[in-house]
Order: sequence, then C-alpha cells, then structure tokens
Amino acid sequence: HGTMRVNGDGHLEIGGVDTVNLATNYQTPLFVYDVALIKERADAFKTAFEEAGVAHQVAYASKAFSCVAMYQLAQNLGLSIDVVSGGELHTALKAGVAPEKIHFHGNNKSKEELNMAVSEKIGCVVVDNFYELDLLEEIASARQITVPVLLRLTPGVEAHTHEFITTGQEDSKFGFDLANGQATIGLKQALDSDHLHVLGVHSHIGSQIFETEGFVLAIEKVFNYVEQWNEAFNFKPLVLNFGGGFGIRYVEGDKPLQPKTYVNEIIKETKKHVARLKIDEPEIWIEPGRSLVGDAGTTLYTIGSTKDIPNVRRYLSVDGGMSDNLRPALYDAKYEGILANRATDIATDEFAVAGKCCESGDMLVWDLPLPEVKHGDLLAMFCTGAYGYSMANNYNRIPRPAVVFVENGETQLVIKRETYDDLTRLDLPYKMKETVSF
Ligand code: LLP
Repeated sequence: HGTMRVNGDGHLEIGGVDTVNLATNYQTPLFVYDVALIKERADAFKTAFEEAGVAHQVAYASKAFSCVAMYQLAQNLGLSIDVVSGGELHTALKAGVAPEKIHFHGNNKSKEELNMAVSEKIGCVVVDNFYELDLLEEIASARQITVPVLLRLTPGVEAHTHEFITTGQEDSKFGFDLANGQATIGLKQALDSDHLHVLGVHSHIGSQIFETEGFVLAIEKVFNYVEQWNEAFNFKPLVLNFGGGFGIRYVEGDKPLQPKTYVNEIIKETKKHVARLKIDEPEIWIEPGRSLVGDAGTTLYTIGSTKDIPNVRRYLSVDGGMSDNLRPALYDAKYEGILANRATDIATDEFAVAGKCCESGDMLVWDLPLPEVKHGDLLAMFCTGAYGYSMANNYNRIPRPAVVFVENGETQLVIKRETYDDLTRLDLPYKMKETVSF
C-alpha cells in the first residue's frame, strides 16, 4: 500500500527508498513513515469537506504519533492539531504550530496545563468535566480574558470496528453525560460564564470504526440535545466536533471506508438536522489520528534468535517488541509483515514473532506466514504508524527506536534513536548514609 513496492534487488522499498539501506544506515528497530500516504489521507479528508462547501477543521489527533516533524507536516497539510497533554502541547508549539489551530483534550488537565493553554491562546479547550469548567473559569477570570471552549459530550454511542453499542448512559471517564442531564448543567454553566466562549460541542464514539452508523447515531443524539438547548438557552453551536476513529486496514478482513465516505455521511447527517432545527450551519470538525498515520508507518526489525518446538510452534525473535509496539500485548492487535530483504520469497511456514522483552506476553504476531528465516533477516511490520512510537516505552531499559520520514527517494531522520546515556539521563545516584561492612 502507499508507495510501497519491491525493487529489482527483491527489497521492500518505501517512498522510493530501499528499506535494507535504511536498516544499514539507521539501524533497527526503525519506524519508517511514507509521507506521501500521510499527505494523501490528509488531502482526502480535507477535500471531502471542500467539495461539499462545508466550513470545517480537520484536526490531527496527535496522540497517534507526535514529534516536532509530524506537527510541522500536519500544519503544512492544513490540519489543525488535537493535543491531550502539556507535553503534546509543548511539542506542537515548539514545532511552530499556530496556537489558534490547537485543540486541547483530556479528562484531567492540570491547572498548569490549562494555564499554558490559556497563555498561549490556543484555539479551544475541549472541556471535559465540572472540575475543569471551574478551573478554567478561575484561570480566565483571574486574567480577565475569554477562553474559547467546546463541551465534550458523552453521547452514549460506542463504536468499535463493525459493532456499535448505544446505551442510555455510557460508562466512560470522558465528557459530560447527556442522559443524566450533566451536559445540560455543564453547558448552562459555560454559557453563563463571562470568561468562557462556548464554540460548540464535541463527541467521540470510539476508534478503528468501519461503519458510518455509529456516527449517524451520535449526530442524532447530539442534535436532540442541541434542539433542547436551543429552546432552553437559545444555544446556537458554531462548531460541532464529531471526533475521530476512522478505521484502517491492519490485516486482511479489515475493510475501512474511504475518508470521503465517513465525511460525506457526517455532513449529510448534520445538514439534515440543521435544516430540521432551522439553525445556521455550524462548522464541522473531525479528529482523525490513526487514519492519517497508521498505515503510513512500517517498523523494520532485525531477526535474531529462532526457536522451533516441533509440532507446536516456530518462534523468531526481533530486536524490538512491546517496547515499540504495545498494541498486540495490550489489545491483542493483529499485524502483517514480510521479509524486507527477501520480499519476493514465497512464505513456506507460519512463525510466531516474539519481541525481546522479558515478558512471555511480548509477542507481536502469533502466526505470520514467512519464507524460511535466518538471523540477520529484516522483518517489515506494516501499519505501525499509529499508537506505536507514541506508546513506546523503556521497559527493560530498551532505548526507543529512531523514526525516519521517506518521500521521493529521500530520507529524513525525524526522531533520533535513544542512547543508553539518554536512558540514565534523569537518574541520580543513591547517596549512601553510612557504609555497613560485613
Ligand atoms: N479524538 C478523541 C477525543 C480521541 O479520544 C481519539 C482517540 C481520537 C480523536 C483519535 O482516534 P483515531 O482516529 O486515532 O482512532 N491507543 C489505542 C487508541 C486509543 C484512541 C484514543 N482516542 C490504539 O492503539 O488503538
């Protein structure tokens, strides 16, 4: 997919760059991002709104993968940025993202984080709960300023892949509940405040969604309340944000829709209700993360040890694992991959791909079809671009991998490989109070 192909040497090539050379030049594990594919996706989401003539913002949900270069690329593609922590906000600002393009999410933003958001005059704070409403009011009134906000609603629609569940009351840590009236109280409080400017409301129904029904249901629910609030408080939303969650293909059987299919359905449904309520058309905002960067990312690993258990399983171990891809261990997520250095060799057996962490659950794939493998072979795991690097960790003090962007035959290193010194940089020595000798 994307710009991937097999070159004349039988090597996997991405963005016109030979992955075997990448592994030699940057070592492994290595995250490789196909910039052209990210651009294509961003363009598809934006174009769908433009063609429909709908005022919009497509905000990159940067939790999927964040670093200075990624924020710069996103901004360059005309995307707004969704951040969920002071760290993401800091990185986005450091990358030079225009503050007014930043939306700040999170169910427990600290006073420091909110102060930072307010000082930087970011585009909006997506207020999640009553505590935050009070905190933001306090901060804004102390500064005698007005902060633009969206109110995060819990719509009682939860969508995952092909299933969606509607519940009267959703059991979620995020947002103001619609069903029990919290949202109405929260909205009233925000509308009554002199220091909060309510742009509109937000809902997010889940992740890796392959159908549009969940969005349709959520939009319907949101509008039922918008209607009530319009009557009760003359509330007119300027913005409706329907979140992210658009699915991608990880493995055969995953059948995501095109970006424009999701967008067109969201637009159609919104317009229907806007016409019914006879209100001005609000801007429609969405927040794709995975669908912008997920399948643009590939991880290159070097194969080391192998272990055959006759009639049971053939293991191969790679030089990374749950330290750079937590998703299989955390969600039983499935991945596909090939040998990047022998991409045309036919698969002859299934292999269990193990990581190198001291944890039996550190398995990346249980049954990957591959040719006969040997140590030194290069394994390319596909679709690791979302929630791979961003959830990477230092379990076992394994340094986090490097990340490169490839495009048109060129490579840019965008995150350096962590070094052992990086790992001990924050450590301080234990000061012995006394020496005990035996
Ligand atoms: N907006 C909100 C409010 C969200 O909570 C999320 C994801 C997104 C947008 C972006 O969703 P996406 O388009 O990427 O599906 N770590 C998990 C995914 C957690 C998603 C959390 N929220 C994973 O690896 O699958």
